[in-house]
Amino acid sequence: MGFIVLEGVGKNFDSVKACSQIDLSIRKGEFFTFLGPSGCGKTTLLRLIAGLITPQSGAVFIGGNDVTHLPPEKRKVGMVFQNYSLFPYLTVRQNIEYGLNIQKKSATEKKKITDYYMNMVGLSGFGKRGINDLSGGEQQRVALARSLAVEPEVLLLDEPLSNLDARLRDKMRSEIKSLQKRLGITTIFVTHDQTEALTLSDRIAVFNKGSVVQVGTPQEIYNNPANVFVASFVGDTNLFEVAVSTGVASLEGGMELKLPASCGTGNLLSVRPQNIKLSAHAVNEPNTFEGRLIERQLNGVWIDSVVQLGEKVLQVAELNSVDLSTQLQPGDTVWVTFPESGLRLLDG
Ligand SMILES: Nc1ncnc2c1ncn2[C@@H]1O[C@H](COP(=O)(O)OP(=O)(O)OP(=O)(O)O)[C@@H](O)[C@H]1O
Ligand SMILES: [Mg+2]
Repeated sequence: MGFIVLEGVGKNFDSVKACSQIDLSIRKGEFFTFLGPSGCGKTTLLRLIAGLITPQSGAVFIGGNDVTHLPPEKRKVGMVFQNYSLFPYLTVRQNIEYGLNIQKKSATEKKKITDYYMNMVGLSGFGKRGINDLSGGEQQRVALARSLAVEPEVLLLDEPLSNLDARLRDKMRSEIKSLQKRLGITTIFVTHDQTEALTLSDRIAVFNKGSVVQVGTPQEIYNNPANVFVASFVGDTNLFEVAVSTGVASLEGGMELKLPASCGTGNLLSVRPQNIKLSAHAVNEPNTFEGRLIERQLNGVWIDSVVQLGEKVLQVAELNSVDLSTQLQPGDTVWVTFPESGLRLLDG
């Protein structure tokens, strides 16, 4: 059995179905991510696990115990809220000590624990500062220290990095990950940022409209998306309506692509931009077609191209190490190859 188990959990707010029929099993020590667009029910599910709200249907188990109707303080769960929810009238130290007061720790213990976690998040010496005198990143670290200080068995992090600049976000990302592994805390991390989800997680649950649409490792989610929503939400992809028979996908306009043995089933063909090859010369490879280059843009590591292929418009991404990159210009004739290994069929 998983350490955190949700069985058929559902929550409505009046007529809004925030979550419906959620079944999930999260292992002890796992870094598990809820990924999905705004409004898909991620925060609601986190609040249900923390005990801040109760579900209308289903049950929540932590460590084998049914906690569905237990109050938050009996769940050994620490939560960092989307807006941090720090106490603005308390200092950094007082904020971090807050949960320790509820746990009735002695003054000596409180000081020792608070010093330890302030140091861990790089805020030693900030104890007397007011919350409003901190930057967003510093506030985020206070929120993290406050949730860790009570030594939760479960850590719930609701988009804790969304307000940080790119550099600080990268730094905090790796700090959170190494902290989580070092302390072995079962962690649920909420984000709508696919890169964050792919880089941090042991496993990801992808949400859409209050339901879980796929659970898997980052590799499984990215390489074998369960449906069109996952393929488009996690990474970019080209989608074509196809008719499939005996290992061949026929596109509108007469193009035919040979499919690999295991590429799923469905009436939509998905191919990631980086799984398409571009060439300035005719190439004698299967699944190659002549097209015209419409746009070409250097994005640093990647070169993004748009190619007209019959009536279709294709997105192609090449690593910026390709010699070809310097030669091709919009308007040029190009040859586009779809290696079989990059082709997936999905349901629309
Ligand atoms: N207290 C509430 N009362 C009424 N509706 C609510 C309440 N809390 C959430 N909702 C609705 O439930 C749905 C799910 O909200 P939730 O906050 O869980 O989304 P989310 O996935 O966390 O989104 P975001 O990425 O924007 O934070 C939304 O339609 C939201 O408006
Ligand atoms: Mg939210």
